[in-house]
Amino acid sequence: MGLLRSALRPAAEKVVTAVAARVAVRNHIDDVGSELLYGPAGRLNDRTLTRAQLDLLAAQVRDTTGVADAVPHVAQAYRMLVGLEGRCVGRIAGTTSNILGKLVAAPLLLPARSRPVRVLEIGTLFGVFAAGFHQQLLRYGHAHDLVIVDPLETVQLQPERERATDPSGTPVTLGTLLVNLRFGGVDLDRVRVERGLSSDPSVRSAVGDFFDLVIIDGDHSLAGVAADLAWAERIAAPGAVVVMDDYGDPGWPGVQQALDAHLAGETRFSLRGVVSTSAFLVAG
Ligand SMILES: C[S@@+](CC[C@H](N)C(=O)[O-])C[C@H]1O[C@@H](n2cnc3c(N)ncnc32)[C@H](O)[C@@H]1O
Repeated sequence: MGLLRSALRPAAEKVVTAVAARVAVRNHIDDVGSELLYGPAGRLNDRTLTRAQLDLLAAQVRDTTGVADAVPHVAQAYRMLVGLEGRCVGRIAGTTSNILGKLVAAPLLLPARSRPVRVLEIGTLFGVFAAGFHQQLLRYGHAHDLVIVDPLETVQLQPERERATDPSGTPVTLGTLLVNLRFGGVDLDRVRVERGLSSDPSVRSAVGDFFDLVIIDGDHSLAGVAADLAWAERIAAPGAVVVMDDYGDPGWPGVQQALDAHLAGETRFSLRGVVSTSAFLVAG
């Protein structure tokens, strides 16, 4: 036994030496570049995506839009998202999967029109999502005009939540929004910003109606979402796509409660599917 142990020792020592050399090389390189580029530093959410998340997203986009292979669509949107967020000021709110779901499924659901489509975003924060969405609409051939509603009051406003500086440290202002729209290549002549709350009658009348696409991402309380859905019923054009952001997100339980209650009542909207934490509706 003692003889066998001493015969094996040189081989075991060789393995230990090889492993130690590899560890030394890895420690020496100590590259944090990919972590800084894609990880959570400076953001709430990192921008990495696992194979399982990609496959799930592609399956949900397929079930919602009918596109058989959604992987190339998600891959293109992913590259755009990482580049855009790197250039812009602030951040896009939400997980990588949720953002990609909206960027891909909404333009795919939108019917082709011979005129610019009318888009309304309720709640824009820094406008980085709006800038990315603009690029996605163009990619799918949808010329568009965009109306944005947000109080732009330095911080994000949410009922029953404290006013606090955004984790990115960036103020929520008109200046930030305009810079991001420019970084995203948005023609500012095709954008109208209505500052204020979506519940404000003067904001509502300034916004107008007949929208082909409505993204609801403002007040996330049960009452706030219910009010925005009721407004969307009145201002969505026939065949419009309505995106209800943060549906099923445990951080915002009022969103799902409000939409489920809305769909159980009398409505023009029918649910086309859920991708990550966004519900996609189509107006009759
Ligand atoms: C979750 S953030 C929007 C995130 C943005 N759409 C994105 O994808 O990055 C919600 C924004 O809506 C604003 N907001 C809150 N209540 C609102 C309301 N009733 N009408 C319009 N905007 C509202 C907040 O101040 C905040 O800027």
